[in-house]
Amino acid sequence: MTKQDPSPRAVPLSIVILAAGQGKRMKSELPKVLQPVAGRPLLKHVIDAAHSLEPTATYVVYGHGGDRVREVLKDEQVSWVLQAERLGTGHAVAQATPQIPDDHVVLVLYGDVPLISHATLAELLTLCGPKQIGLLTVILDDPSGYGRIVRNGRDQVQKIVEQKDASRKELQIGECNTGLLAAPAKLLKKWLKALSNDNSQGEYYLTDIIAMAVEDKVAVNPLVAQNVVEVLGVNDKVQLAEVEAAYRGRVTRELMLAGVTVADPARLDVRGPVTHGSDVFLDINVVLEGRVTLGNRVRVGPGCVIRDSEIGDDTEVIAHCVIDSTVIGANCIIGPFARTRPVSTLGRGVHIGNFVEVKNAQMGNDSKANHLAYVGDATVGERVNIGAGTIIANYDGANKNRTTIENDVHTGSNSVLVAPITVGAGATIAAGSTVVKEVPAGKLTVARAKQVTIEDWQRPTKTKK
Ligand code: UD1
Ligand code: MG
Repeated sequence: MTKQDPSPRAVPLSIVILAAGQGKRMKSELPKVLQPVAGRPLLKHVIDAAHSLEPTATYVVYGHGGDRVREVLKDEQVSWVLQAERLGTGHAVAQATPQIPDDHVVLVLYGDVPLISHATLAELLTLCGPKQIGLLTVILDDPSGYGRIVRNGRDQVQKIVEQKDASRKELQIGECNTGLLAAPAKLLKKWLKALSNDNSQGEYYLTDIIAMAVEDKVAVNPLVAQNVVEVLGVNDKVQLAEVEAAYRGRVTRELMLAGVTVADPARLDVRGPVTHGSDVFLDINVVLEGRVTLGNRVRVGPGCVIRDSEIGDDTEVIAHCVIDSTVIGANCIIGPFARTRPVSTLGRGVHIGNFVEVKNAQMGNDSKANHLAYVGDATVGERVNIGAGTIIANYDGANKNRTTIENDVHTGSNSVLVAPITVGAGATIAAGSTVVKEVPAGKLTVARAKQVTIEDWQRPTKTKK
């Protein structure tokens, strides 16, 4: 959903993402940068924002839990740089800079600041040059914990002072360091070499390069973030939920502005890219996960979860359905209370009713399973009517077997089709039948005990003791 900058960059760009933090306050076995926002790791959001700038290279500085981080994000186009000891943000950046050519601009991002936008970063980059630094700042009502931006009488940035090293006067400053900055590689390397850890935390602070730049007559150009949400860092589960809510709000707003009708923006969760046509309606408590495509006039009822699926024009998914890895054609009616599982394909005009489960199945155009059925590992033709209570018994206790149901078949209520089996075109299976052999086309097949009536039978009576 980030827009690509069409203009080619004059100066090559290297991006360094700091992600060596332990995240103790998460109280979790999962490393902090792998904690999910919208179902994707925090760090993945930052990598995506980085890549939207089309850099020459992206370095991720990792440390604690690093193997797991690398494993989860192994498909990302990034260079991994180990910071074995966590000696501060300046030290972290210095692990990557030896690999970066002098003529590059270096953009520093944080792995735990996931909502940073392409637009803000693109603007920050315009403020950086061979003798200029772009510094992203933010004005906060409660600046506690942050480094403060110290400006002179002419409003020029002079230095950054960390909370723990700040004087009482400096603590009054509301403008804070977001940690994100863009600097010319050559000078950055020089300043990083000159850092000392002579401060209250005994760390090599990246922030100390600002005073060095001022000393070197390099302009420090601040960009005050207009949207605080973009620079929110995530340290604990409360902030994780706040960032999740902010993300949710942002994506839902984009959907609404693009024409989707949302019953209640506070009760929609979008956790991946959504492509949609016009006049889509999403009712309350809908969750869209992974890649979801919704055609024109699709209606999704309350309480539905749709994951990695495609839904055709004019299809309605009624309340409380779980749709997973399914391609659904146009004009279908799904649910309420239906479940479709990977990987399934439903043609045009298919009806899947209440308490019907479809798994690894294809159903042709205009086929229906309206009530209480299991359609697993099956290829179903067109205009097939799967009666209430029909079960495709696909599992023999060891292996899954496939069932083929040809066009125009009707299966009676409570029939069991024991796979592997083929039901010929136009066949009818009588209600209550358990079919274990091929069912011939065009005929009625009955496979149940014959109904008999015992004429002279008498109901037993209770014996007195
Ligand atoms: C830092 C800034 C502070 C700023 C704040 C914004 C410094 C010295 N201070 O403070 O001015 O207001 O961020 O949130 O830069 N990291 C490493 N390796 C390290 C240390 C940190 O990779 O050795 C990473 C962390 O994982 C994190 C980021 O760098 O993503 C910031 O580190 P953190 O310890 O949170 O810095 P703060 O003290 O919050
Ligand atoms: Mg921090």
